[in-house]
Amino acid sequence: MKLLVSLIFLIISVVVESQFTSTGFPTQVLSSNSPWNTPIGNNPTVDPLSSSTVNRIYTELGQGGLSTNFQLHYYQWTAPLHLVNTSLPVNRIKIFQPQGEGYHETVDPLGLKVITNLPVLTSFNPDPKLDGHMIVFDTNLKVFHEFSRFKWVNSTTAEATRYDTFSYTHNGTYPAFVPGSRWWMKGVRGSGAPFIAGLIRFDEIQRGELNHAIAFGGPLNRQKSSASSPWSYELCSPVSSRTDGYVVGDNTIMEGQRIQLNPSYNINSLPPKAKLIAQALQTYGGYMVDNAGDFGIYFENLGASGSNQWESQYGTDLSTLYNIPITQFRVLSCSNISTKV
Ligand SMILES: *[C@@H]1O[C@H](CO)[C@@H](O)[C@H](O)[C@H]1NC(C)=O
Ligand SMILES: *[C@@H]1O[C@H](CO)[C@@H](O)[C@H](O)[C@H]1NC(C)=O
Ligand SMILES: *[C@@H]1O[C@H](CO)[C@@H](O)[C@H](O)[C@H]1NC(C)=O
Ligand SMILES: *[C@@H]1O[C@H](CO)[C@@H](O)[C@H](O)[C@H]1NC(C)=O
Repeated sequence: MKLLVSLIFLIISVVVESQFTSTGFPTQVLSSNSPWNTPIGNNPTVDPLSSSTVNRIYTELGQGGLSTNFQLHYYQWTAPLHLVNTSLPVNRIKIFQPQGEGYHETVDPLGLKVITNLPVLTSFNPDPKLDGHMIVFDTNLKVFHEFSRFKWVNSTTAEATRYDTFSYTHNGTYPAFVPGSRWWMKGVRGSGAPFIAGLIRFDEIQRGELNHAIAFGGPLNRQKSSASSPWSYELCSPVSSRTDGYVVGDNTIMEGQRIQLNPSYNINSLPPKAKLIAQALQTYGGYMVDNAGDFGIYFENLGASGSNQWESQYGTDLSTLYNIPITQFRVLSCSNISTKV
């Protein structure tokens, strides 16, 4: 009997523990039914303008003198992921909105333009580029805190243009143009998607498990499909809830739209970590969630180029991903376009 009881405890604790890594971070981010955790399946509907769109991206990047290779954002224009344990005493900070707007009403219901009591250690810093994205995960309460354009003022105050918080079991989506005022303040990505959604983390590449869709940035994100559209913005719901796409035209990609690495592209000769990512790009694909000067995907920021673990441990392996022609990607049809005047 005693043995049976301890066996059951052992099984329960193994099951429970396996949902989190030794650092307290969940092995699966967002709910199982999140679009970020759902495979594409066989024979998805490809957008009729997919080739035209991808070719246009290729041509425009080339004409602009930019790289036409698939890109990896791993040391800038992405976000670091910091862990904090609020069952211990931790530094608490106040953030304020420097552009004079209230944050979204889900986090700033009174429109005070200030949020207090956030657990952010003084050692935490954002991505070094203008967008200053930063992700903080509370291993005690299992919630994410995300920021855009985070800038320290002093050890207890920072400014940030956007702030969002959600549980690790949330589905990672919000309704389009989130009802209420200030819909453009929801979520920290240009698309309103959470930053952790689709971010490639170091722990999962180390473990060799990458079971989710991947975040894409691109240079040809749609504002609307035609200059004569009666609306101003167009996006693919539910992955995107707002859009900062600025290109008018139908051979463009909607924010929230799904992209897939051609499943017949042969990935067998890739080294192990690059292959893991390429496999995920075929099985889960990715979603277009932000503007970028190139066409690429996002990795957890582990520090400056030349001194980070992505390069020191997997640099040679991962650099083979640059050889995947961007014309091997296809844009899938959006089944739920949302528009706003
Ligand atoms: C957080 O701190 C508490 C108290 O010291 C500890 O029991 C718990 O294991 C810590 N959690 C993580 C994930 O480190
Ligand atoms: C930090 O800056 C804020 C805003 O300027 C100010 O109100 C606060 O007193 C400062 N705190 C410290 C500890 O310097
Ligand atoms: C995601 O969760 C929210 C809040 O629980 C819910 O309103 C919404 O319908 C869910 N969306 C999807 C696509 O599951
Ligand atoms: C379609 O978009 C609307 C607006 O965002 C959303 O409320 C609805 O849940 C979406 N439906 C599906 C099936 O994703």
